[in-house]
Amino acid sequence: MKITVIGSGYVGLVTGTCLAEMGNKVCCLDVDPNKIAILQNGGVPIYEPGLEELVRRNVEAGRLSFTTDVAESVAFGEIQFIAVGTPPDEDGSADLQYVLSAARAIGRHMDAYKVVVDKSTVPVGTADKVKAAIAEELAARGVELPYSVVSNPEFLKEGAAIDDFMRPDRVVIGADDERAITLMRRLYEPFQRNHERILFMDVRSAELTKYAANAMLATRISFMNELANLAETLGGDIEMVRKGIGSDPRIGYHFLYPGVGYGGSCFPKDVKALISTAREHGHRLRVLEAVEDANDLQKHRLVEKIVAEYGEDLSGRRFALWGLSFKPNTDDMREAPSRVIVAELIQRGAEVVAFDPVATHEAQRVMGDNPRLTFADSMMAPLDGADALVIVTEWKLFRVPDFDAIRAAMKAPVIFDGRNLYDPALVREQGFRYIAIGR
Ligand code: UDX
Repeated sequence: MKITVIGSGYVGLVTGTCLAEMGNKVCCLDVDPNKIAILQNGGVPIYEPGLEELVRRNVEAGRLSFTTDVAESVAFGEIQFIAVGTPPDEDGSADLQYVLSAARAIGRHMDAYKVVVDKSTVPVGTADKVKAAIAEELAARGVELPYSVVSNPEFLKEGAAIDDFMRPDRVVIGADDERAITLMRRLYEPFQRNHERILFMDVRSAELTKYAANAMLATRISFMNELANLAETLGGDIEMVRKGIGSDPRIGYHFLYPGVGYGGSCFPKDVKALISTAREHGHRLRVLEAVEDANDLQKHRLVEKIVAEYGEDLSGRRFALWGLSFKPNTDDMREAPSRVIVAELIQRGAEVVAFDPVATHEAQRVMGDNPRLTFADSMMAPLDGADALVIVTEWKLFRVPDFDAIRAAMKAPVIFDGRNLYDPALVREQGFRYIAIGR
């Protein structure tokens, strides 16, 4: 099938590349000529394991191409994915300007039937706005052409996006006409394994499903973070509690890890947007409001523990910090808890020497220059003379460190672990003061 993907960011690029891998012909469009130039030269402007090789293979096979030419790309595909950004507005609602301008571009340039697929995470009701924007453009041209608008939200985890796309748990498709349903089924049929994974539903339910999924997952995290804080006071171990409840199949083990708060491009934005959509329609989502509050507080939790140890004034102290990205296997710094933690430490007068296996460059870009923040290029380097080690992101690399070497390098053997990476008894046996989350 011939497919156009409008927006070659994270979601667009993964979607386009994986669809090409299944044998489709895919044209990816972006307004940013630098991004397109990188892609045309065999590079990938984001960090996602496995993506670069997949892009190269499909470009070489002639199935995947990149362009900044709107007319050419709209003419290309019978299926048009809209995968542009939906950044939060000041009030937390999703800003639809890029989605709607993509829709208008389709209306301006289409010359045959198109299925327009909303891939971007968009508030319930957006498909109707997309439909109207296309209709307006067609009317302005004085032409009548058939088209369908479909919602097909993504459930891609950064760092595992290719596998999530190629082997989905489910494919949610909101569509209300047969022609679109037939085409979407054909498109996703190859991704079904051993049982039916395509869920057809009405458009609004599909749009809401995406928000519901992320809101539920965010709720689990905030719930566990609050219980972790309680466990500290009560003298329990949240890691035991986690196992104790996760073994109930109604609860399950996933997404019960307490930590430094959720970050990234989806949870914070989608929770805000759902609260805001509800408000617009006269509903208050009290549970989600609390989820958001708890998460904002949790991002300060590790620094609270540091302050409890050393006092409010941290000047003259040097902290080694491991992990900057909001989670492992990505260089994404959006809403990363490390940003709050580093800013607070510095603001209290401390010096921070940070190490991250891939996010250093991105962190430098978003955190700006500060003489009290430096970046190291090995995980051992920041430990030299450090007052304490602060662990923020659970990269695999950090799981089995050389505790002897760490202790020898540090000024004092203290670890603040925001991700509960180690067995407390074991670390303490090694001579460390070990402060974790909820234990
Ligand atoms: C998420 C959803 O998982 C994905 O389905 C959706 O399409 C986009 O949003 P992503 O943002 O890439 O994906 O990251 P995810 O792995 O879900 O983690 C989100 C955040 O929650 C991270 O900050 C992570 O550290 C945190 N988290 C996750 C916890 O604190 N505890 C957990 O148990 C799980």
